[in-house]
Amino acid sequence: MLSLLATKPSLHWLGKQLFNREDPAAFFDPLLERINPMWVRQYVPARVQAVVDETADTKTFILKPAARWGGFVAGQHVTIDVDIDGVRRTRTFSLSGAPAQWKNEGTVSLTIKRLTGGLATNWLHDNLASGDVIGMGEAFGDFRLPEADEPVLYVAGGSGVTPILSQLEAMAQRGYQAPVTLLYFVRTQADIIGAEKLHALRLNWPALTLRIIATNEGESPEYLKDTHFDDVPGVNARRCYLCGPKGLMDLAGELLAKRGIEEDRIHSTFFSVPTATLDGDSLGGEIHFSRSDIKVTSEGDAVLLETAEAAQLSPQHGCRMGLCHQCSCRKTSGTVVNRLTGRASGPGEETIQLCISVPRGPVSVDL
Ligand SMILES: Cc1cc2nc3c(=O)[nH]c(=O)nc-3n(C[C@H](O)[C@H](O)[C@H](O)COP(=O)(O)OP(=O)(O)OC[C@H]3O[C@@H](n4cnc5c(N)ncnc54)[C@H](O)[C@@H]3O)c2cc1C
Ligand code: FES
Repeated sequence: MLSLLATKPSLHWLGKQLFNREDPAAFFDPLLERINPMWVRQYVPARVQAVVDETADTKTFILKPAARWGGFVAGQHVTIDVDIDGVRRTRTFSLSGAPAQWKNEGTVSLTIKRLTGGLATNWLHDNLASGDVIGMGEAFGDFRLPEADEPVLYVAGGSGVTPILSQLEAMAQRGYQAPVTLLYFVRTQADIIGAEKLHALRLNWPALTLRIIATNEGESPEYLKDTHFDDVPGVNARRCYLCGPKGLMDLAGELLAKRGIEEDRIHSTFFSVPTATLDGDSLGGEIHFSRSDIKVTSEGDAVLLETAEAAQLSPQHGCRMGLCHQCSCRKTSGTVVNRLTGRASGPGEETIQLCISVPRGPVSVDL
């Protein structure tokens, strides 16, 4: 077989693809995708089972991932991959159903709001239908329920309720005994996401107190105030979970901290990540992907993940925004700047995240 490969150029090329690639799935997948997208190995294929309207701008997509998908705990997120106009786009969404849905029915739910001007969320709303297949990553994130029952306060805003819907359902199913309060801020009653689920939970699970605050229905807007917390019994002893627009989360965090609730009892999940302003002039340099022995030059604030992909490498990745750590890789020398914080690394060997690392001068990476 090997001698045949050496004498026939076309087979030699094929052999190189099969034996030299870091990930053989990268070679086979385009072929398998055409035959049956559920056979693809590089990501987990998930077939859309149903699409449910939640509000005018939010839909829940019920997906059936291939059985090899690893499952999740309530409050975690996944990345999904969709091809839009021939370009693969990766986006992150929270799993909005309880883990029991996956265990019992083999399905998961993603509840997705259209963003004005947003590419993928609008495409998903307008195009994704029952029977379609998208790519899904493994679950990640440490927005997790307490191990033992203890009083909990949730503050949610808009689509920020999605990981909380999963957690509330999981708590009700495990018979969570300690009091749980959800303060849920929406623009109007018509914008409540998961309304049916929330009302059913309130009826069937006595530990839950549900307070929905429609900010834009009165004569003047009703935003979060300290007095909202006065109505939560024993608020200072509660574990707090925040998810929503940055302004709401910052304010909630500030008010809870003023009440003396310690930082390690306040858990937040952000739907967007801050980025630092970087000094473009000092960035870029020669990159050596040492395992593949490829040398390329990057310019400006291009991150190592994009540069590796441009060099035809297929590094593992998920969220592409510094959250899931799936792109973690060993840097063996050189300095990189963190795109989120603007901080520079040391010059020596360390683990970095390819998706948020911008080279500053020559860098060598074990890839
Ligand atoms: C951990 C995590 C969990 C999440 N969970 C959920 C969830 O459960 N449900 C959910 O709905 N969302 C969730 N999100 C947010 C979701 O990931 C984003 O809404 C999504 O990635 C946006 O993708 P997009 O392609 O539609 O927007 P993009 O095209 O990537 O645009 C991003 C932003 O830029 C703006 N923008 C884009 N183009 C223009 C333009 N031409 N002019 C002006 N502005 C523009 C958009 O309005 C948007 O605000 C989560 C995010 C994270 C990080
Ligand atoms: S791809 Fe998720 S942290 Fe880099």
